[in-house]
Amino acid sequence: MEKLRVGMIGAGKIAEVLHIPNLLSSDLAELVAISDPNADRLRYVTKKFSLTNVKSFTDYRDITNGDFVDAVIVAVPNHLHAVVSIDALEHGKHVLVEKPMATNSIEATRMVECATNTEKILMVNHSQRFFPHNQKAREIIKSGMIGEIRLVKAAFGHSGPENWTQNVGWFFDKDKAAFGALGDLGVHKVDLIRYITGLEVKECVALTATLEKNANVEDIANGVMKLSNGALATLDANWITRGLEENYIVVYGENGTLKVGQTDPSKIDLYIAKPIAYHGEIVLKPLFTNEDPYWKLPVVEHFIKVCLGMEQPIVRPEDGLMSIKIIEKFLESSKLQKVVEIDG
Ligand SMILES: NC(=O)c1ccc[n+]([C@@H]2O[C@H](COP(=O)([O-])OP(=O)(O)OC[C@H]3O[C@@H](n4cnc5c(N)ncnc54)[C@H](O)[C@@H]3O)[C@@H](O)[C@H]2O)c1
Repeated sequence: MEKLRVGMIGAGKIAEVLHIPNLLSSDLAELVAISDPNADRLRYVTKKFSLTNVKSFTDYRDITNGDFVDAVIVAVPNHLHAVVSIDALEHGKHVLVEKPMATNSIEATRMVECATNTEKILMVNHSQRFFPHNQKAREIIKSGMIGEIRLVKAAFGHSGPENWTQNVGWFFDKDKAAFGALGDLGVHKVDLIRYITGLEVKECVALTATLEKNANVEDIANGVMKLSNGALATLDANWITRGLEENYIVVYGENGTLKVGQTDPSKIDLYIAKPIAYHGEIVLKPLFTNEDPYWKLPVVEHFIKVCLGMEQPIVRPEDGLMSIKIIEKFLESSKLQKVVEIDG
């Protein structure tokens, strides 16, 4: 079988720890080109990964407009997600774009429409769907073991992007990032809530604040959502968490409670009250933390297989759009200081 020829657009931190190493370890794909306007970054990753046969460009259009790649991975600041993805789709390339999918739902809708019109794959890197813990939790909930869902609590907090990438400026600039902790971390959890419960978000209310970062986006956001079965869900997304990052989801059902990563990052705690009392732990291998140099996460391999027609996409473009709509509604609610409805 011919290998999928992939171009990497953006050679920043997530490209370094997730996309490039996973592309290089795939038997099904070949990294053929890379682009970043920052020539130092290009030199750095070229040296680190010995990318001697990989074409490198400072203008991404040299990749999207060329005929030497079948697919691109877009890992650039948020305000460029839509423009780069649409350009790639229109030039016949499949796209894996980073989260948040776009800076607003108008842009995200255009991306969905473009993927439909061009009949190309568009996947958003809602990476938390690919954690084995979350896959297992989804399976348990789907089996009906914990019964009807009543409440979900989700949290994602760490000390901020300045402790993640050297290129931090854009994360704090609304014109480039569009969102703060909500779009950076909260977006993962709103997507995960929909994915593991199978429920939709119908209403939401939130408060946001900027207390620590020199930023014009929020560094703390707390919200409550009403789900399609009437259950409530809470979201805590922040960049002010000292010590270990918090990254968990707890689902309270009528028969049991499922805690993913709340007591220990590698553990699922399962408490079943009916029909038999049971308290068990499912311990899975910890995947990685932000400290690790290489995220062994199957999202890149899955994208490659989707492009090659070997798997159905786990993340549909509409899922990326829905996450953007929810985040937008949280911000609207915070501004208006009232509960807002979510359509679609
Ligand atoms: N899915 C996840 O778990 C996850 C984790 C971290 C970051 N991300 C997302 O990945 C994206 C990138 O984040 P990061 O942490 O790597 O940021 P970063 O700042 O480290 O890297 C971004 C890179 O994009 C480059 N860039 C800017 N303009 C460009 C252009 N026109 N063409 C090509 N490259 C360009 C920058 O020079 C920089 O090297 C963001 O949208 C972020 O939200 C996702």
